[in-house]
Amino acid sequence: MPVTDGYEAFTDFLERHSGIALGANKQYLVTSRLRGIVRDTGVNDLGELLKLVERDVRGKLRGQIIDAMTTNETLWFRDTHPFEILRDRLLPEYVDSRPTKPLRIWSAACSTGQEPYSISMILDQFKQRRPGALNGEKITATDISSRVLADAREGEYAMLALGRGLDTAQLKQYFDQTKDGRWKVKSAIAARVEFRPLNLLESYSLLGQFQFVFCRNVLIYFSGDLKRQILLKIHQSLLPGGYLIVGASEAVNGLNDYYEMVHCRPGIVYRKR
Ligand SMILES: C[S@@+](CC[C@H](N)C(=O)[O-])C[C@H]1O[C@@H](n2cnc3c(N)ncnc32)[C@H](O)[C@@H]1O
Repeated sequence: MPVTDGYEAFTDFLERHSGIALGANKQYLVTSRLRGIVRDTGVNDLGELLKLVERDVRGKLRGQIIDAMTTNETLWFRDTHPFEILRDRLLPEYVDSRPTKPLRIWSAACSTGQEPYSISMILDQFKQRRPGALNGEKITATDISSRVLADAREGEYAMLALGRGLDTAQLKQYFDQTKDGRWKVKSAIAARVEFRPLNLLESYSLLGQFQFVFCRNVLIYFSGDLKRQILLKIHQSLLPGGYLIVGASEAVNGLNDYYEMVHCRPGIVYRKR
């Protein structure tokens, strides 16, 4: 497919519907990620593909294209610090504040589930240290991609994916081996996590409010303006005194009226003002 035909219109379309800003010279990425869709639809260029999208009133093709264009790279306990900060600092502080309602955590771009399941494992570790301190805690995990959400809900991983961030002891503690040699997240860990589709461009009001929001390694794909809008919406989704945790290469800039930067050495989290 000669992707240069319609490339600009395609990047506009993608950013409008998913926030993902591709930039000028990512034709190779589009070509490789849309290969299957181009083959199945028989289009000759991106302009033709966009015409098909317009005619597809139920939005199925649009969803498939966005799905194909997302980057779903993830791993268990990614960057280590955020999860240690949660266990050793944020959860003790939360419990000591004597909350009246059960803890709610949001993993806002959860990909194939490694992030919310890692959070659930951390809650398990904390509950062992402080028996009875948490009750009825829930993790809401959302993503724009229905493909990764299906994998995440299944909670079954090949050894290769598990090697990325887990040691043997954690594997035995938190997974059951299946008959075909894969590993399934134990039901007690999975039971805390609810997966739901959500586009970060849309409203979050139906999700309710959270004590902690993990929004990691997704803001990097968005423009500065959109990033700001999303961070302001997340601010509204946080309970008073709640915390936002972003990715290692992401920062919350220019929003000092909304978030207070908290240095945990190592690692930074952002407290709702
Ligand atoms: C690189 S992964 C990050 C996964 C995990 N948070 C981590 O840090 O390992 C980025 C995820 O963001 C999702 N994503 C991209 N645009 C999105 C949007 N507009 N709304 C919700 N999720 C989006 C992608 O589908 C992908 O699964």
